[in-house]
Amino acid sequence: MTEGATEAAAATVELETLVSLAKRRGFVFPSAEIYGGFASTYDYGPLGVEMKRNIRELWWRRMVQERSDVVGLEAAIITNPAVWQASGHVDSFTDPLVDCLGCQSRVRADHIEDETCPVCGAVGRFTDERQFNLLFRTFVGAVQEEAATAYLRPETAQGMFVNFDNVLQSTRRRLPFGIAQIGKSFRNEITTGHFTFRMLEFEQMEMEYFCDPEDSLEQYAYWKQERLAWYRSLGIRPDRLRLRDHAAEELSHYSSATADVEYLYPWGWGELEGIAHRGDFDLKAHAEASGKTLSYFDPEREVHVVPHVVEPAAGVDRILLTLLVDAYDEEVDERGEKRVLLRLAPDVAPVTVAVLPLSRNERLVPTARGVWDRLRPHFRTQYDDAQSIGRRYRRQDEVGTPLCVTVDFESLDDEAVTIRDRDRMSQIRVPLGGLVEALRQRLAELQPKEEVVA
Ligand code: GAP
Repeated sequence: MTEGATEAAAATVELETLVSLAKRRGFVFPSAEIYGGFASTYDYGPLGVEMKRNIRELWWRRMVQERSDVVGLEAAIITNPAVWQASGHVDSFTDPLVDCLGCQSRVRADHIEDETCPVCGAVGRFTDERQFNLLFRTFVGAVQEEAATAYLRPETAQGMFVNFDNVLQSTRRRLPFGIAQIGKSFRNEITTGHFTFRMLEFEQMEMEYFCDPEDSLEQYAYWKQERLAWYRSLGIRPDRLRLRDHAAEELSHYSSATADVEYLYPWGWGELEGIAHRGDFDLKAHAEASGKTLSYFDPEREVHVVPHVVEPAAGVDRILLTLLVDAYDEEVDERGEKRVLLRLAPDVAPVTVAVLPLSRNERLVPTARGVWDRLRPHFRTQYDDAQSIGRRYRRQDEVGTPLCVTVDFESLDDEAVTIRDRDRMSQIRVPLGGLVEALRQRLAELQPKEEVVA
């Protein structure tokens, strides 16, 4: 079942075009490229890291700082392996795999349609299905033996469950309340492709919302809408976003109900975020395995309850990819030349204001540098004086910079500069004294209006 999207057109940018732009302009590089790269692993360049920071900060502000009922946590990536035994990951975190007898490719059995190999097209020529565990193993200590095995976490969520009582005791919370965390997770993914959509090492932003079992379905419905609204607030086109409820056979081993926020990628609808009703699966599993009590004492009813959990689980990398895909646009200008632009909202754009002197003329440079000094404390800025002003506008359009400030010879006399708008390509003249305020105002106007879910 789906809700949210109307008639939608899939994002049209070819993934190859985007991968090339991302590398050329310093968003995302293939990891260890000088050694031929590494499967499904990427490094973030100067613009990519700025965008990732924006995504994390926007999520944290919405999910933690603006709320009265959610607190933060940072748990270890490598922890006691008993956690992953109890959570079910050691036994059940698996993908069903088959080998194609035609091309020897290893593919996910549940991704095969009409008995056809997605790599070579051979029909009905597969080995029997085997379960493949996605956990990355390592060894702790001097001896590499089975008893020293530990795992890189495959999700941040378990850190919140094993710290449930610590947070409860140290913050004296009442139900419902949430624990949020941002951090790296690792999965030995076999099916790869689609750039940063599925990686071995990626960053998650997860929140476990602990609630009374009786309220949990209402909370689940609330979080589905709230998370969809957040993606709209980032400026993602609403007709390329939808909520899709999982069918029973798709549910993870821990979940009694799950919905995905999906985006219409160039290759079709795909998961952007999962919102799971995890019930009491995790707290009960850890209580049983550790022998500790993991429950909440309700002072009004004077009963102990094991809270149920609703979990919105997002991925920073996948959001960044989605924002790039969604923002990519091409236009033909009045001279018949192609203009490539990223229509990124100011909140997520890696650079919000670029300072461009009309030329490198030595009379202009001190004023232009002075403008840059003035703007750096207030905005994410870039100074660019290489090549013609037209080419520099195009470069800024291509990385999604909403506003450019141009310093020209007139600026030396009238102490004013030009603000050039990425989307409208309009220009206005503004006195230097009011520049910060004028830029702030225009950026605020460009920001999509926030929806708040009651
Ligand atoms: N704790 C629940 C959980 O981990 P998930 O649906 O497996 O749920 C949540 O992951 C989100 O993490 C996904 O919606 C996606 O955004 C991101 N994610 C998961 N695996 C990923 C991978 N291999 N590469 C990039 N992002 C991934």
